[in-house]
Amino acid sequence: MKLIIDTDPGIDDAMAIAYAAAAPEIELIGLTTVFGNTHVHQSSRNARFLLDKLGLDLPVAEGAAVALGADTHSPSEHVHGPEGFGDLTDIPEIGRNHALPAAEFLVDMARTHKKKLVVCAVGPLTNIANAIRLDPEFAGNLGRLVIMGGAVYCPGNITNHAEANIYHDAIAAEEVFATPPDTVLVGLDVTLKTLYETADFESLAMRSPDMGSFLRDISRFYLKFYKDVGGLEGCGLHDSTAVIACSHGAMFDMVETGLRVVTEGDQKGATQPDPERPTVRVCRDVDGAGVVQLFTDRVASLP
Ligand code: RIB
Ligand code: CA
Repeated sequence: MKLIIDTDPGIDDAMAIAYAAAAPEIELIGLTTVFGNTHVHQSSRNARFLLDKLGLDLPVAEGAAVALGADTHSPSEHVHGPEGFGDLTDIPEIGRNHALPAAEFLVDMARTHKKKLVVCAVGPLTNIANAIRLDPEFAGNLGRLVIMGGAVYCPGNITNHAEANIYHDAIAAEEVFATPPDTVLVGLDVTLKTLYETADFESLAMRSPDMGSFLRDISRFYLKFYKDVGGLEGCGLHDSTAVIACSHGAMFDMVETGLRVVTEGDQKGATQPDPERPTVRVCRDVDGAGVVQLFTDRVASLP
């Protein structure tokens, strides 16, 4: 399976990219970057740093700096740290971005690879909405869109109603769900059932001295946020769970429903079932322990 991850790295994004690099059934063909956990230029810098650390020479196409209709963005520094990788700062600038902006790169790759391409969006959906606006055939060309986002049958995390990726660009998400490709939504309904704890990171660091230790080191900041704010003994494997859903759908219980996104007011970013909308598959449950084990075993195989 050919995969592009649309990402705002971000600590759990870094874990998902490492998983994709280690998964034998995934051919990662590139990354597209978006604002969210960081400013988009930092997302791109972090993506290129990570690919270099993984020994992968892949394109990074930079995308949206702000949400549709917005002028500015305030990164989630209190969650992912000042440069998106926890306490790590002064992340080196390695290589350069791809010549094409993210939306054009996504349209181009979908035209080239057609139904063989899966896009896994693990940040705000601005690049995906822009690709749909740019090419009416994009949605039909794409094999599948797997989204980390939403909280359909559970509370949100950035507000009680909304999950962060959807909240950060509710207009983009509403446009995507109005005319969705073949889509799977991997929301908080399942990603809070795949918590990754300190002991899991320590075990990973023992088995993967370079990448495992890096992920452990940058996740300390993230784990502290989850404990201090969420009262949780682990962090959500949000983005890795979405990447795993790209190839291991049988680990998830899914329901089919149309979705609508609230775009303003105190419920902004809420993802609500709507039978009038084209159906997407929404993950309602997951083999959480199985996902955590699969993630660990795959990433532990890295140097
Ligand atoms: O709500 C979790 C999502 O928001 C994850 O993708 C995390 O990286 C942040 O972007
Ligand atoms: Ca993310």
